[in-house]
Amino acid sequence: MPLCPPLIRHLNTPDLFVTIDRLPCLGTPVSDRTFEIFNPSTGELLAELPDMGAEETRAAIGKAHVAQPEWAALTARERSDILWRWHQLIVDHADDLAAILTAEMGKPLAEAKSEVSHAAAYLQWYAEEANRIYGETISAPSTDRRMLVIKQPIGVVGTITPWNFPASMVARKISPALAAGCTIVLKPAEQTPLVAGAMFALADKAGFPEGVVNLVFASEGDAVGRELCSNPKVRKISFTGSTEVGRLLMRQCSDQIKKLSLELGGNAPFIVFDDADIDAAVDGAIQAKFRNAGQTCVSANRLYVQASVHDRFVDEFVEKVRRLSVGDGFDPAVAIGPLIDRHALAKIESHIADAVAKGGAVRCGGNRIGKEGTLFQPTVLTDISCEMAVAREETFGPLAPIIHFEDADRIVHEANDTIYGLAAYFYASNLKRVWRVAEALEYGMVGINTGRMSSEAAPFGGIKQSGIGREGSRHGLEDYLEMKYLCMGGL
Ligand code: SIN
Repeated sequence: MPLCPPLIRHLNTPDLFVTIDRLPCLGTPVSDRTFEIFNPSTGELLAELPDMGAEETRAAIGKAHVAQPEWAALTARERSDILWRWHQLIVDHADDLAAILTAEMGKPLAEAKSEVSHAAAYLQWYAEEANRIYGETISAPSTDRRMLVIKQPIGVVGTITPWNFPASMVARKISPALAAGCTIVLKPAEQTPLVAGAMFALADKAGFPEGVVNLVFASEGDAVGRELCSNPKVRKISFTGSTEVGRLLMRQCSDQIKKLSLELGGNAPFIVFDDADIDAAVDGAIQAKFRNAGQTCVSANRLYVQASVHDRFVDEFVEKVRRLSVGDGFDPAVAIGPLIDRHALAKIESHIADAVAKGGAVRCGGNRIGKEGTLFQPTVLTDISCEMAVAREETFGPLAPIIHFEDADRIVHEANDTIYGLAAYFYASNLKRVWRVAEALEYGMVGINTGRMSSEAAPFGGIKQSGIGREGSRHGLEDYLEMKYLCMGGL
């Protein structure tokens, strides 16, 4: 049994999930090797899963490859019906999925529930979108020809999902692939494979034909990733994670010119102009910075606040940050859970130390909570300058550095001065400024007077070294389709 009592006691329907290590979509492990999953809040052992590698990945790819033509040959409505059934099962088991997510990842249960409903929303969206795959006809330059474009599924897709949104990223990647007629092999993050396993248990119940969805559990990603990238049966890789791993996958895919969707790191600026609604900007900054303990690739990484509103913003912001309670995600009073591991703690501490050494001031927080575990106080730094590490590197934690600025025109230039281009936010009310800044920010997504913009209806993704492709919306479906031009002559 992979799930241990500390997790099982949170579940309403444990029977559905206790045999996650024996799911039909998992395949057969070739060795007895296992790996353990722990609750980052309590350190309790939650589960032991088979530790798979290249061989099991190859077998999963083989199954996906055999199943793909038949899956693609179903009508869009038939594929859509199965996605709908999966969606409904996820909705029906949302509380259990959220409990599994909180146990393995640490985020507050309310956030976990919101993530599971976001995952369900992707399934719903692509169950609908499956029916809207269109081609086009083109006016031919001569009368004896007809020219058309049809869209066809890419084929087998290898997907690798991250630990920070272990449920919604599974749905965001695989629901458009399945709607398009692709089959998939998924490797979830080694820290958080259980909610993916539970979602796949529900996928098996939803009735996907054998080989359409395939799961590989592994304690490290190298062997699985290499097999996915080098196996010619896999036609596309979709990855969410660090820019460093994204570069590696891109190199590994280059021999076969394999298609890639990459959703990578960010260094999001959050700019508050002097004409902003400051109360709204404070609330937006709390959300953009501290959701998921700052472990979000669209997290506000550096806050720029214009001089005339700086002190008011800082005072209100610090007061609200001090009130955020930190602890076990199952405690309903908790707003911020643990960090995923000790490396994450060390990175925040190094960013704070670097900033303080260069003249930064700690306005609240700044320390670990307790000696064991990975809880960290939500922290606000002021007197930050652009050469500090905290302004240049992604922190991925509950640390908000505030940079004071005077010149509204120069600040956009400074905000763009990064290799990343995922998300940016700004608060302003002057319409002319709103348009000018929105157009000038070099980012794939811009939040205007909002601290949250992720939605199944919108294209999520970045430019520059933040990635390739888009997830969500009709554009997310296009990323799993090939375009084929048909030219009929002799007419
Ligand atoms: C992320 O990919 O880190 C953010 C996902 C989200 O905002 O839903």
